[in-house]
Amino acid sequence: MSDIITVIAPVNIAVIKYWGKRDEDLILPLNDSVSATLDTSIMCAKTSVCARADFKEDAIWLNGKKESFDSPRLQNCLGEIKLRAAAEKSVSEDFLQRKVHVCSENNFPTAAGLASSAAGYACLVTALAKLYKVKSDVSSIARLGSGSACRSVYGGFVRWHAGINPNGTDSVATQIVDSTHWPEMHALILVVGDTKKKTSSTVGMRIATQTSELLKHRVKYCVPERTEEIIQAIRQKDFPKFAEITMKDSNQFHAVALDSYPPCVYMTDVSHFIVDLIHKYNTASGSVKVAYTFDAGPNACLYLLKDEVPKVISLIKHVFPTSKPESFITGLSSGEEVLSP
Ligand code: PMV
Repeated sequence: MSDIITVIAPVNIAVIKYWGKRDEDLILPLNDSVSATLDTSIMCAKTSVCARADFKEDAIWLNGKKESFDSPRLQNCLGEIKLRAAAEKSVSEDFLQRKVHVCSENNFPTAAGLASSAAGYACLVTALAKLYKVKSDVSSIARLGSGSACRSVYGGFVRWHAGINPNGTDSVATQIVDSTHWPEMHALILVVGDTKKKTSSTVGMRIATQTSELLKHRVKYCVPERTEEIIQAIRQKDFPKFAEITMKDSNQFHAVALDSYPPCVYMTDVSHFIVDLIHKYNTASGSVKVAYTFDAGPNACLYLLKDEVPKVISLIKHVFPTSKPESFITGLSSGEEVLSP
């Protein structure tokens, strides 16, 4: 028999977006990115893993449905964990030979496509590291599952350094500040659509890297400066500066997607309506009170300070009368939690 290890891991929503890879196999990005890790109360992945001598094959269940374990990303993550375990001699040879069963679920509609792979892989890798008693940093292994997953391993605000080494040893995530640094910071998720994205992030990034002139400009001239500026804004708790950079970076990422050939369109009319609404709200407030950001889909993540929450929730309810925005408000997370044993 073997213990079952259960872990929950949070999603993260980038304020400086990762879009474009310099190495598709190792999942090495073209540029640094920055994100906030959100509290697990509204969105998280939960994964249980177990290795037993009587298991005949590696197997995985996602949200209750058995899926193939053949995906190269899954194989890479499990393979790398086992290599580390062998190098660290953390478990016996016999244990390493056992097959593993994985059971993973999201507490958030996966169809909404909001950073579920980031939480999922961060969770899987953390659970496997615990199962195989791996002590070294697992963020770079989570990266092999889904690039942005390397940021979900830490809480608070996190930076993923693109790195320059061809083998990716310096492409790692580090924490900028923990979740206690800016407790007023909140995120409000607005689910605009729950259809699967038309172009996966892997394909979208590939097309952008091959065809977008704007992406080259972004990587060289925009992201390095923005990254330093937003980190300073986070450290100084300068919300207007943080919000302005967040919105500009989201807009530029979607401009890059449109500049790709053929173009990738992720935002919808409702997404653009929300952009407009937030700019009008900020103008009426006399300063920047709310930031929006959109990943590779139509759903909005609004960053705002606690004082602003009741007003913005009323506004959203007024504009979208059937919505329940109060169910999608959250603070930042301190990182993944190991639930058992
Ligand atoms: O890690 P992936 O392959 O799911 O790509 C994530 C891409 C964005 O969410 C759009 C940006 C980001 O930095 O999270």
